[in-house]
Amino acid sequence: MARVALVTGGTRGIGAAISIALQKAGRLVVASYAGNTEAAEAFHKETGIEVIKFDAGNYDQSVAAVNEIAAKHGAIEILVNNAGITRDAVLSKQSREMWDAVIDTNLGSCFNLCKATFDGMKAAKFGRIVNIGSINGQAGQYGQVNYAAAKSGIHGFTKALAQEGARYGVTVNAIAPGYVDTDMVRAVPPDVLEKIIAKIPRGRLGKADDIARGVCFLTADDADFVTGSTLSINGGQHMY
Ligand code: CAA
Repeated sequence: MARVALVTGGTRGIGAAISIALQKAGRLVVASYAGNTEAAEAFHKETGIEVIKFDAGNYDQSVAAVNEIAAKHGAIEILVNNAGITRDAVLSKQSREMWDAVIDTNLGSCFNLCKATFDGMKAAKFGRIVNIGSINGQAGQYGQVNYAAAKSGIHGFTKALAQEGARYGVTVNAIAPGYVDTDMVRAVPPDVLEKIIAKIPRGRLGKADDIARGVCFLTADDADFVTGSTLSINGGQHMY
């Protein structure tokens, strides 16, 4: 039987590439989305991948969604916490709402989904969790105290939970993508983005597939000895 995988924010951008790659790897994939129903329906039509709408930053909705997926397909064995948003502004222009939105969606979602799936993975003596962090959680970024804090939090969360999961065969790893060619990065002002690309030794933005390859590696059945790690996929922009 195919292992059941949930990819949050799995219908667009990096998440969509991850969902497709896991499907190609023989997983039964469910991709979640929070708001863009049109994009999610188009993604489903194109790929046949099941989509489910819930706010991963909301605890009750996350638990309900995990229960719904488990009732339909069986327990989730592979979890990719990819859902993420930006609300960039320098601190003096950043509101409490901008802070809360990013912390809840990017970091709170990891707690919500791991909490809802981890005990099941432990009982099954198998689990693969991959949390999508960021180069900006490693290095910081001007105008991103909220995002950098959330992504840095993901890296710490990953190492802590990896210690809890190891003896049960549940691996917990993070990927720290650099600047990847997605809607999120295209929203960066062009003059700022140009300067960022100039600092990428590989000389280009990342592709969503570059990140998806990492997820396939970390979620493979035989990736049993890799846990608590952070895989940087950033074209050499930050060597950490
Ligand atoms: N370092 C130092 N100074 C900087 C700077 C930097 N990196 N970026 C901007 N500044 C300076 C500017 O030169 C400017 O100085 P002057 O007033 O002397 O001209 C001042 O800061 C104000 O800059 P802006 O006019 O850009 O200020 P703003 O308030 O209009 O916008 C901002 C600020 C929203 C942070 C904008 O600069 C921005 O969007 N930056 C990009 C942030 C970014 O990289 N986000 C990543 C999004 S993608 C992502 O997060 C995915 C991932 O994981 C990698």
